[in-house]
Amino acid sequence: MRSSPPGQWSCGCPLKLLVLFFFFFTCAFSSKNNIILILTDDQDEQMGGMTPMKKTRELIGDAGATFSNAFTSTPLCCPSRSSFLSGRYPHNHLVHNNSVEGNCSSAAWQKTAEPFAFPVYLNKMRYQTFYCGKYLNQYGSKDAGGVAHVPPGWDQWHALVGNSKYYNYTLSVNGKEEKHGDSYEKDYLTDLVLNRSLHFLEERSPSHPFFMMLCPPAPHSPWTAAPQYSGSFSGVKAPRNGSFNKPGTDKHWLLRQPANPMPNSSIDYLDNAFRRRWQTLLSVDDLVERLLKKLDSVKELDNTYIFYTSDHGYHTGQFSLPIDKRQLYEFDIRIPLLVRGPGIKAKQTLQSPVLNIDLPMTILDIAGVNLSTVNMDGQSFLPQMAPSLRNGTERPFFLVEYTGEGYSSQDPSCPKLGPGLAECFPDCVCEDAFNNTYACVRTLKGANLQYCEFADNEAFVEMYNLTADPHQLENIVKKVDPSLLQIMNQRLIKLQSCAGDTCRNIR
Ligand SMILES: *[C@@H]1O[C@H](CO)[C@@H](O)[C@H](O)[C@H]1NC(C)=O
Ligand SMILES: *[C@@H]1O[C@H](CO)[C@@H](O)[C@H](O)[C@H]1NC(C)=O
Ligand SMILES: *[C@@H]1O[C@H](CO)[C@@H](O)[C@H](O)[C@H]1NC(C)=O
Ligand SMILES: *[C@@H]1O[C@H](CO)[C@@H](O)[C@H](O)[C@H]1NC(C)=O
Ligand SMILES: *[C@@H]1O[C@H](CO)[C@@H](O)[C@H](O)[C@H]1NC(C)=O
Ligand SMILES: *[C@@H]1O[C@H](CO)[C@@H](O)[C@H](O)[C@H]1NC(C)=O
Ligand SMILES: *[C@@H]1O[C@H](CO)[C@@H](O)[C@H](O)[C@H]1NC(C)=O
Ligand SMILES: *[C@@H]1O[C@H](CO)[C@@H](O)[C@H](O)[C@H]1NC(C)=O
Ligand SMILES: *[C@@H]1O[C@H](CO)[C@@H](O)[C@H](O)[C@H]1NC(C)=O
Ligand SMILES: *[C@@H]1O[C@H](CO)[C@@H](O)[C@H](O)[C@H]1NC(C)=O
Repeated sequence: MRSSPPGQWSCGCPLKLLVLFFFFFTCAFSSKNNIILILTDDQDEQMGGMTPMKKTRELIGDAGATFSNAFTSTPLCCPSRSSFLSGRYPHNHLVHNNSVEGNCSSAAWQKTAEPFAFPVYLNKMRYQTFYCGKYLNQYGSKDAGGVAHVPPGWDQWHALVGNSKYYNYTLSVNGKEEKHGDSYEKDYLTDLVLNRSLHFLEERSPSHPFFMMLCPPAPHSPWTAAPQYSGSFSGVKAPRNGSFNKPGTDKHWLLRQPANPMPNSSIDYLDNAFRRRWQTLLSVDDLVERLLKKLDSVKELDNTYIFYTSDHGYHTGQFSLPIDKRQLYEFDIRIPLLVRGPGIKAKQTLQSPVLNIDLPMTILDIAGVNLSTVNMDGQSFLPQMAPSLRNGTERPFFLVEYTGEGYSSQDPSCPKLGPGLAECFPDCVCEDAFNNTYACVRTLKGANLQYCEFADNEAFVEMYNLTADPHQLENIVKKVDPSLLQIMNQRLIKLQSCAGDTCRNIR
C-alpha cells in the first residue's frame, strides 16, 4: 500500500558500491531521521504573525516548505493541542474547551486518548523523546492529576503547569514540581525552553534518533517581552485592511453584538496587544536560530525534520472584535506551517490544504510507523512536501468544529450583559458564548468555499466565497444556489461523524 519510510528505504538497496557504502554508513550510525516540532501559542498567519520572525522564515521556510493553506481543526488552545497530540478531530478526542469538565487534560483524556498520542508510537520506535513548554491548559492542576502525571511516551518531560506565562510559573520536571520566579536570566520561559533543548541535544545518546516538541508561551497573553525587546516595533499598529473595524451585521448572533465602529479604547488596547505579541515572538525567533546552530554543530541539522506551527490564529479588531480567537473566520483558523528536512526541496510554497490533525500522521510517517495501525483522522502530508519519498493525494475538503465557552453567571464587570457569555473584555465585547458553537466544511481546490452551521436558536448558517471575498465580508447564504448549500450540508454531516479512514476518503 505504501512504500517503506524514508531513512529505512535506502538500507536494503543492492546498488552500486559507492551507494552501498553510503547506505551502510547511514544505516550503521543513524538509520532514522530526527524530528523537531515547534508549536507556538496563539500565533496567527493572516494578521502578520510571521512578519517579525525573519530568521525562522529564512532558516526553516526558505530551507524547505511553507504551507499557504494550513488550518486548525478548531480555534482554541486545549482542543487544538489535543488534536495535535491525538491526530483526531474534536468530535473524536472529545476535548471541547479549556476546562477539565470539557476534557482538557482530564482523567478521561489521560485514560482514553493520551496513551495513543503520537509520541507513544515514536517512543516505541526507540526515538528519544523530549518535551518542553506549554502542554494542555489544565495540565498539572489538582483535578488533572497534578505535576506527578507525566504522559506516556516522553523520556524527558519539562511541562508548564496551566496556561501560558513567561514568569512566575511552575513546571513539572519529569513529575517533580519546579517553581520559577521572574528573573529574566533564570526564568524567562521561551529562553528556558531553548536552554533545556540545547542541554538535551548535548546529553542524548547518539545511537538513537530523537524527537523534540518545543512549546514556547509566545505570543499568548500576558505578552511579556524579554527586556531587550520591550521597546521593539514601537510604531507598529494592527493592520487596518480586510475586515478590521467592520460590522458583522450579516453574521451569527455574537458577531452582531460589538459596537461599530469600535471605541478608541478598544483600538488602543488591541494595538498594544498586537505590538507586544510581536515582541514576544522575537525570543522565539532567537530560539529557532540558536537551536539550528546547535543542530549544525552536533552534525544533525541535515538529518532532522523541523516543523514550525501554532495551535490556531488570532484576531485584533476584525469585525470589531478587539482581541481573541474562537471564530470560524480565516484569521482564527489559519496557522503558520513551515517544514524543512531530508527530501524537502528548498524554497517551496505549497498550496495543499493541511490540518493540525495531519502533523502526527506526517511525523509517524517520517519515523517509519505503519500508519494503518494508527487510529487517527489526519493524513500524512509527506507526499506534498517530499514527492520523491512518497506518493499520495490531498484531501478534497475538511472540517472545522468548535464548542462555544460560556459562564452561567453574569460577568460582574459587564452588568448589562446576560449569562451564557465569556471573554467580555475590553469594553464588554464578548468573544465567546455557549451558542458560538459551530461546524464548518471548507473546500479549497476548484471552489474556495466555506459553509458553517451554528447550534443556536436561529440555526444560523454562514457561507463565504473566498475567491470573490477573501475577507469574508459578505455572507452569501441567501444568494447562493440552494443545491450548493445542500451539497455543503451533506459534506458537513459526513465529516461531523467521520473517524479514521472515513475522514480521509470522504468525497
Ligand atoms: C470526556 O471524554 C470521555 C472519554 O472520551 C467521554 O466519555 C466524555 O463524554 C467526555 N466528556 C464530554 C463532556 O464530552
Ligand atoms: C512574580 O511574583 C512576585 C511575587 O508574587 C511579584 O512581586 C512579581 O511582580 C511577579 N512578576 C511578574 C512578572 O508577574
Ligand atoms: C539560557 O542560557 C543563556 C546562555 O547560557 C543564559 O545567558 C540565560 O540566562 C539562560 N536563560 C534561562 C531562562 O535559563
Ligand atoms: C493587510 O496588509 C498587510 C500589509 O500591510 C498584508 O501583509 C496583509 O496580508 C493584509 N491583510 C489582509 C487581511 O488583507
Ligand atoms: C478616536 O480616534 C480618532 C483617530 O485618532 C480621533 O479622530 C477621534 O477624535 C477619537 N475619538 C474620541 C471619542 O476620542
Ligand atoms: C500495516 O498494518 C496493517 C494492519 O495491521 C497490515 O495489514 C499491513 O501488512 C502492515 N503493512 C506493513 C508494510 O507492515
Ligand atoms: C510515485 O508514483 C510514480 C508513478 O506511479 C512512480 O514512478 C514513483 O516511483 C512513485 N514514487 C514513490 C516515492 O513511491
Ligand atoms: C466546558 O465543557 C463542559 C462540558 O461540555 C461544560 O460543562 C462547561 O460549561 C464548559 N466550560 C465553559 C467555560 O464553557
Ligand atoms: C445566544 O446566547 C445568548 C446568551 O445566552 C442569548 O442572549 C442569545 O439570544 C442567543 N442567540 C442565539 C441566536 O441563540
Ligand atoms: C465565487 O467567486 C468566483 C469569482 O468571482 C466566481 O467565479 C464563482 O462562480 C463564485 N462561486 C460561487 C459558488 O458563488
